[in-house]
Amino acid sequence: MHESAKKLDFPKDFLWGVSTSAYQIEGALHEDGRGPSIWDSFCSEPGRIANGDTAETACDHYHRYPDDVALMATLGVDAYRFSIAWSRIQPNGRGAANPKGLDFYSRLIDALLAKGISPTPTLFHWDLPQALQDAGGWFNRDTADRFAEFARIVAERLGDRVSRWITHNETFEHTVLGHAIGTHAPGQQLGLDIFSVVHHLLLSHGKAVQALRAILPAGAQIGIAQSMARARPASSRIKDRLAAHLLEALHLRMHTDPLLFGRYPLALRLLGIDRSALRAGDLATIAQPLNFLGINFYNPQYVRSAPKGGAVPIEATEPPMHLERTEMGWPVDANGFSELLLYLRKRYRAKLPPIFITENGAAFPDAVDAQGRIDDPRRIAYLQAHLHALRQAMDAGVDVRGYFVWSLLDNFEWAEGYRPRFGLVHVDYSTQQRTPKASFDWYRQVIAANR
Ligand code: FCB
Repeated sequence: MHESAKKLDFPKDFLWGVSTSAYQIEGALHEDGRGPSIWDSFCSEPGRIANGDTAETACDHYHRYPDDVALMATLGVDAYRFSIAWSRIQPNGRGAANPKGLDFYSRLIDALLAKGISPTPTLFHWDLPQALQDAGGWFNRDTADRFAEFARIVAERLGDRVSRWITHNETFEHTVLGHAIGTHAPGQQLGLDIFSVVHHLLLSHGKAVQALRAILPAGAQIGIAQSMARARPASSRIKDRLAAHLLEALHLRMHTDPLLFGRYPLALRLLGIDRSALRAGDLATIAQPLNFLGINFYNPQYVRSAPKGGAVPIEATEPPMHLERTEMGWPVDANGFSELLLYLRKRYRAKLPPIFITENGAAFPDAVDAQGRIDDPRRIAYLQAHLHALRQAMDAGVDVRGYFVWSLLDNFEWAEGYRPRFGLVHVDYSTQQRTPKASFDWYRQVIAANR
C-alpha cells in the first residue's frame, strides 16, 4: 500500500470516480447517423486547433468503450462521468431521436452497470449540433427549449438505469471561451456582450431539470457541473481587489447565484451588462431545486485591474513565481481548493446543496520509459494535495459527497489538441494502446484504502 494513500480517511460512502466528455474521447464523428457539431466546424477552420489536430478518432472510445470500462473496473471507481453527444441523439438538434445514437449510450451504461459502476452522464459538454448554431445557438432563446427536449428524449430511454444526471458542463467556459474571446467553438468574439448566452444556458438548465423530473423516478439525483475558483488580487490596492471582485462576479457568481439564489449578482450592473434577454419568470425556472452542485476545480485565478480603455477592468496576472505550473501553464495551488469550498459554504449557506467534485486533475509531459511505463509523480502530488485540501474543507463542515478525477484517459484537449495529457491512463494515438500510469495505480490504492 502506498503510504500517502492510507492517510486520507474519507467517509466509507464517499463516491470515487473519473470524468471524460464525448467529443474529447469518442471519435467516430461520421458513424451511426451522428450529425455535425460546432466543434467539427471549429476544428475544420485552419489555425483553430494546435498542430491541426482534430477529434476524428480521438481515443476511439466509441468502439473501444468495453476496454475503457474494464480499465475503470480495475481502478475500482464507483462512478463514471461522461457526456452524451447531442448530435448523436438528434443529428440536427431537434425532432425525432436517432436510435443508433441512443443505443451507443445504452450499451455503455449496461457495460458500466455490469461492473457496478454508476453512470453519471452530462447532457451538454460544449458540442452543440451545428444546425442549432446556424439558428443562433445559445443567443437564441429557442435553444433552451431544444435542450429540454433533448433531455426528455435521453431520460425516456436511459432513465431506468441512470440515477445521477448532470445538465451542463461549465457554462462559464463555454460562454467565455466560445463566445467572448473565441478560442473555443463556436469561435465568437463578443467581449461582454454575452449575457444572452449565459442566460439561455442557465434557462436551458432549469428547463432540462423540469423535463428530467417529469420522467425520472423520485430518487433521481440531478445537478450541474460548474467551474469555480476564487480570484486572487495581485496586490492589496483597492483597484486590484475590485478587479478580483468583478472577476468572481462574472465567473463564479454570475453562473451560480441564479441557480441557488434565483438572481444575478449586482456587479453585472457595474459592468454595464445588457440584461435584456431576462424575462419575467426565468429566474424561478433557473433556480430549480438541485440534488447536488458539481464543481470543477483546477486552480485559483490571479488578477489585477486593467489599464483604462479595455472592454473589462480586469486583467489576468502571473501567479506567484514559487508555484509549480502544469503543462497548461496553470498554477498548482491546492490551498485555493479548500478556500473555494469554504467560501461557497459561507456564501450560499442553507442554499448550498451537497457537492460533488466533478473534475480535478492536471496535465504534465509524461514520458514513457524503456519498459513502457509512465511514472507521473507530479500528477500524483497534484491529486494528493487536492484530496488533502478537500478533506480539510470537509472537516470544516463542507458537505462533499464524491470526487471525479479529470481524466480517465489522455484525450483531445480542445484548442490545445492532443499535446496536454490529463489521463490516469496514457493513450498512444497511433495504436490506441492504453497504458495505466503510476497515478492510476496510486488512485486505485486511494480508493481501496478509503472504502
Ligand atoms: C475543463 C473541461 C474539460 C477539460 C478540462 C481540462 O474546463 O470541462 O473538458 O478540458 O477542463
